[in-house]
Amino acid sequence: MATTSLPERIRRDFPVLQRKVHGKPLVYLDNAASAQKPLAVIEGQREYLSNYHANIHRGAHHLAQLATEAYEGARNSLAAHIGAAHTEEVIFTSGSTDAINLVAQSWGRTNLSPGDVVLVTRMEHHANIVPWQMICEATGARVEPINVLEDGSLDLEDFHSALQQHQPKLVAMVHASNTLGTINPVSELCQAAAAAGALTLVDGSQALPHMAIDVQAIGCDFYVATAHKAYGPTGIGFLWGKKDRLNAMPPWRGGGEMIQRVSFEGTTYNSLPHKFEAGTPHISGGIAFGIALDWMNGIGMEQIAAHEADLVAHAHSAVGTLEGVRIIGTAPQKVGVVSLIADGIHPYDMGTLLDGQGIAVRTGHHCTEPLMDHLGLESGTLRMSFAAYTTTREIDVAVAGLARALAMLR
Ligand SMILES: Cc1ncc(COP(=O)(O)O)c(C=O)c1O
Repeated sequence: MATTSLPERIRRDFPVLQRKVHGKPLVYLDNAASAQKPLAVIEGQREYLSNYHANIHRGAHHLAQLATEAYEGARNSLAAHIGAAHTEEVIFTSGSTDAINLVAQSWGRTNLSPGDVVLVTRMEHHANIVPWQMICEATGARVEPINVLEDGSLDLEDFHSALQQHQPKLVAMVHASNTLGTINPVSELCQAAAAAGALTLVDGSQALPHMAIDVQAIGCDFYVATAHKAYGPTGIGFLWGKKDRLNAMPPWRGGGEMIQRVSFEGTTYNSLPHKFEAGTPHISGGIAFGIALDWMNGIGMEQIAAHEADLVAHAHSAVGTLEGVRIIGTAPQKVGVVSLIADGIHPYDMGTLLDGQGIAVRTGHHCTEPLMDHLGLESGTLRMSFAAYTTTREIDVAVAGLARALAMLR
């Protein structure tokens, strides 16, 4: 099937895409912040809440069994989707942020000592910087950054010399940048880190919606992502880790579900994945996450990736026609993210004028302030970000809208 027909085939699955904003047809280009939801996800969540809501794992009754099967079924789908060797290696979390904090607090608390180093790239989202800063502050370790080149690629020379210089305990890296779109060569980076004796954590928040993911091929120790950027609900995501590694880590949060036996003489902990899942989880979210993965796989990740590569190429050439506008992030391998700045104009002003035309984009630092500092972009960028349902026509509408906004602001 031709990739150009993809949005036409799937747009009717997204009720919100039919609406108007400020009297204009919605052009939703803020998918890197959160993607819209297909009917299958909306209905799946409604079906659970209407027909078989119950708490999971513990109930002796029929509804609890149905809910448990659906929730654990979603875990199976997720494990298969990312190539996990064992389903119990998949820990449900409230999102990527929660998953990274879990590793930082559990693994970091027992493995980091004064003088140790955690390497992170300068293109990380705050979610993959601040948890490491916090655990380093508590343990006496420190965070060291890896540079990013002018075009938004990771500086591989700096990466390799930082490995040698700092002998880090862990390297944390984003799979695809939410600000630049850059796809990092994560399997090459993980291989080099492992050879230098470091563990690796890959933040796949912006990769999950855009490409096939195989944690075995990547060769990382931990992989995290969040459902709401991949057509699923907010408040649910996951941590994948190698079974032996996760088994060796202490639980982070305590409470119900994560225990085997509780007594005042001493408490013992549950096996994976429950050891890391204290309390009642986001059941409808987990179920709907599984449905979102099925929905993406129904299209095919290769087809989504090919369509989005066409969108990026189209957007780059369309934005290139705007005078005084510069694209920030032109690495050869990119997901559907196009950040830009215009001479002398604040991104927020452009974003506000686009909103008036029904065009939703994001402006600012995109939770990557150290990257903005590194690139000298004090006011951040305007970011257009795409999904499987985005059309080239929408990009043309946005670029024409941008031209109008620039004419008004200059
Ligand atoms: C690259 C990246 N990492 C982490 C996150 C955090 O995701 P969440 O807020 O769902 O935990 C985001 C969200 O913008 C992201 O883009």
